[in-house]
Amino acid sequence: MTQSRKKLHIKTFGCQMNAYDSERMAEALAPAGYDVTEAMDDADLVILNTCHIREKAAEKVYSELGRVRLNKEARKSQGRGTMVAVAGCVAQAEGEEIIARAPVVDIVVGPQSLHRLADLVAKAETGERSVETEFPADDKFTALPSRAGGKRQVSAFVTVQEGCDKFCTFCVVPYTRGAEYSRPVTDIVAEVERLAAAGVREVTLLGQNVNAYHGDGEDGSAWSLARLLRRLAEIPDIARMRFTTSHPRDMDEDLIALFGDEEKLMPYLHLPYQAGSDRILAAMNRKHTAEEYERLVDRIRAARPDLALSTDIIVGFPGETDEDFQDTLDVAKRVGFAQAFSFKYSARPGTPGASLEGQVPEMVKKERLAILQAQIEESRRTFDRATVGRRIPVLFEGNGRKPGQIAGRSPYLQAVYVDGPERLIGHIAEVDILAAGPNSLTGVMNAGFEWREPIRTAV
Ligand code: 5AD
Ligand code: SF4
Repeated sequence: MTQSRKKLHIKTFGCQMNAYDSERMAEALAPAGYDVTEAMDDADLVILNTCHIREKAAEKVYSELGRVRLNKEARKSQGRGTMVAVAGCVAQAEGEEIIARAPVVDIVVGPQSLHRLADLVAKAETGERSVETEFPADDKFTALPSRAGGKRQVSAFVTVQEGCDKFCTFCVVPYTRGAEYSRPVTDIVAEVERLAAAGVREVTLLGQNVNAYHGDGEDGSAWSLARLLRRLAEIPDIARMRFTTSHPRDMDEDLIALFGDEEKLMPYLHLPYQAGSDRILAAMNRKHTAEEYERLVDRIRAARPDLALSTDIIVGFPGETDEDFQDTLDVAKRVGFAQAFSFKYSARPGTPGASLEGQVPEMVKKERLAILQAQIEESRRTFDRATVGRRIPVLFEGNGRKPGQIAGRSPYLQAVYVDGPERLIGHIAEVDILAAGPNSLTGVMNAGFEWREPIRTAV
């Protein structure tokens, strides 16, 4: 007799680490009889995997819960039950309050307690609501099942580090994700080997402060991120490696050198600078000046001149004047980012920034953000245009938008579309870039290109 399977819908908000956690939750619930569905109205269990980084992100969860409630009522009128869980950083930060404010919710589970999810679901099936937001001593990574790797995936995320000890004064992460923790090297190697065996060609190592990685190495000593990357580069089927997000203070010499001498490490680095004024940087507790950031960029570019730099920037931190904001624009202009994510400062309860004097009016933040975004959009387009005319190795990940087209990524993380055979998906091939559109590049396969199995490494 086959037991009837149930349906699970996960909606993910926020960062890539949440995307990774969502995949792990789906895997953890598969043995409990849940298969993933894209349709919320089809789901017996709805999980919102939430983000708390800015106020807007947290608000979105409550408005989404409104929709979840309507969906639950509609299903109820058809005689079908719906269980609702809130996971992620809003769950961690608000805990009991979610249960109080949103009666539709059955389970609240923080990011460090995901391995408890199957138990909590079993409890909820008996009608018991629960809130699990401890930072338990047992390691969630060892308790979660290892990846099945069933569906074809070319590029995968692997969390190697979680939490943060930096305490930037605007940021909730040290409170929601807790203290810095690094997974042991052997666990990461085993996970990446499994991914490689399942067809993955590119891994992006994730961590809130990934370059502070200091996990137990294969020889028992603490390994740096650079050492971990060198070890992962030995896995033959892994052709490309990336990592995110890094703190300027933790870019050590070894890691900088790796950009120059490890060809599997892609020339792309996400390195937030947050603000260009030293006074604001100090108030943010960033532990670096604008000058130090720029000199660091010079050193990384000396190791890898074609590096694509990406960053995060906040406008309107308390006390930010027009001159301070101008400093932020100036740094962005001098560095020339290939990509940048920019945000209006959002006061997060419990962080030191929230009680600082000189909170900047919303209108001013809005204006500054618009000015900054126009400038960084221009520098992104400039970077993209500079790749036109070049021959670039592209890792193909899937079908394109049009028939006969395949899509992949350049070493600089740009989306590339080209006419080509589907069999190239999962492989690297050279493309002559012909044009840069608003969000992607287009090109043609290198004319002299002849495809042979297997093409694994960049040429
Ligand atoms: N307000 C605005 N932006 C924030 N970030 C983090 N906390 C806040 C906040 N309170 C931004 C930072 C960080 C990115 C992930 O989100 O730029 O690097
Ligand atoms: Fe938040 Fe990043 Fe600062 Fe840590 S280093 S407190 S995660 S902004």
